[in-house]
Amino acid sequence: MVLSSADARRVLAETPEPFQSDTSEKHATLSHFEPAGSLISRGPERAARRAFSDDVLQSGCPLHILLPRFRQVIEEEAPMLLAQAGEGLSWGAFKDAWFRIVRRCTFGDHAGGDTRLTALLIRVRSRANGAFLAPKDRVLRDRTLSSIAAALHSAEPNTLGALAKATGDRRARPEDQVAQWLFAFDAAGIATFRALAVLASDPASASQARDDAAPELPFLRACLLDTVRLWPTTPAVLRQTDRDTRWGDAIMPAGTGVLIHLPFLHRDDERLPFAHRFAPKVWLTGEGERWGLIPFSGGPGECPARNLVLLLGSLMLQSLLRESRFDMPAGEALNTSALPATFDHFSLIIRTARLRADLR
Ligand code: HEM
Repeated sequence: MVLSSADARRVLAETPEPFQSDTSEKHATLSHFEPAGSLISRGPERAARRAFSDDVLQSGCPLHILLPRFRQVIEEEAPMLLAQAGEGLSWGAFKDAWFRIVRRCTFGDHAGGDTRLTALLIRVRSRANGAFLAPKDRVLRDRTLSSIAAALHSAEPNTLGALAKATGDRRARPEDQVAQWLFAFDAAGIATFRALAVLASDPASASQARDDAAPELPFLRACLLDTVRLWPTTPAVLRQTDRDTRWGDAIMPAGTGVLIHLPFLHRDDERLPFAHRFAPKVWLTGEGERWGLIPFSGGPGECPARNLVLLLGSLMLQSLLRESRFDMPAGEALNTSALPATFDHFSLIIRTARLRADLR
């Protein structure tokens, strides 16, 4: 277990050699539904699969080329969600709207209401939780991957799927990478809903978020980043050494599993003055990086969707905050100066009141 952010930085910078990202645990779980996913690939295959995600998700760009389309989709879906929510926005309603947005942005408008693929992924993923123990359901896996291949084939212009079709490198095995994306979009929805709950508990930050008008929406991005710092949706970053590695005077043998436990680094109150506080500002000043905070990991294995998640989440928060005021239910407001270690968003219903048109 990695105990310092300096050692975490080393492990992440020296990925994939000697710290391979395709650990035994990841093979055991991910092979259930994405046997050719980049996370469990090595060598030239890993390079092609990772490059595919980098290219389509535009990992290096804060503003994805499809931003106008993403904004249009979100600005259609967010008001519908609020109309349906009435006075209380539940995780269930938010998640359904979020996945409509994901499907429209990935495959096009025709896929917005097609919940079959999402349902298949949920089934295959719950099987994957059995990891080493559960026998693989190859029929279900093949059905899921061929449904993704068919959805990609019929992807409309101006979608992630259309960009994926244009890359054309078959070694990339697009359907396996897209399975990982669809699975990971769940985490992005959770982070966005939790950020909304934090803003509903903190009127000063909510008002700053409402005023965030710069093109990259820096304050909203910072709110999302800090929400994922406080409650990492991928708490364990795993590696496995492919040779002996030296740590000071000691040698750690090849084949050792390495765990970077993000909550341990992100909530270290002996080191971080803001450990348990909502502190979006640390992401505006570069302090977050200087303190070694890594909610999306770092180095060559960093999440390729970091920018995309921050963009879609910020656009969603912006649309919701423009239309409505949010409050936490009585007695459930978060104390943003002393936040709990875990956050159960499943049962939360955020109180919602439409803003008068002249106040928007
Ligand atoms: C809150 C949302 C998300 C968080 C916090 C997050 C975080 C992470 C983390 C920590 C990793 C592991 C990196 C490592 O092993 O060093 C990862 C990998 C990955 N993520 Fe995300 N992720 C999110 C959402 C997404 C989304 C929405 C997508 C796709 C659209 C995505 C695509 C990927 C892929 C493809 C990998 C594997 C990268 C590789 O093989 O090198 N993630 N993510």
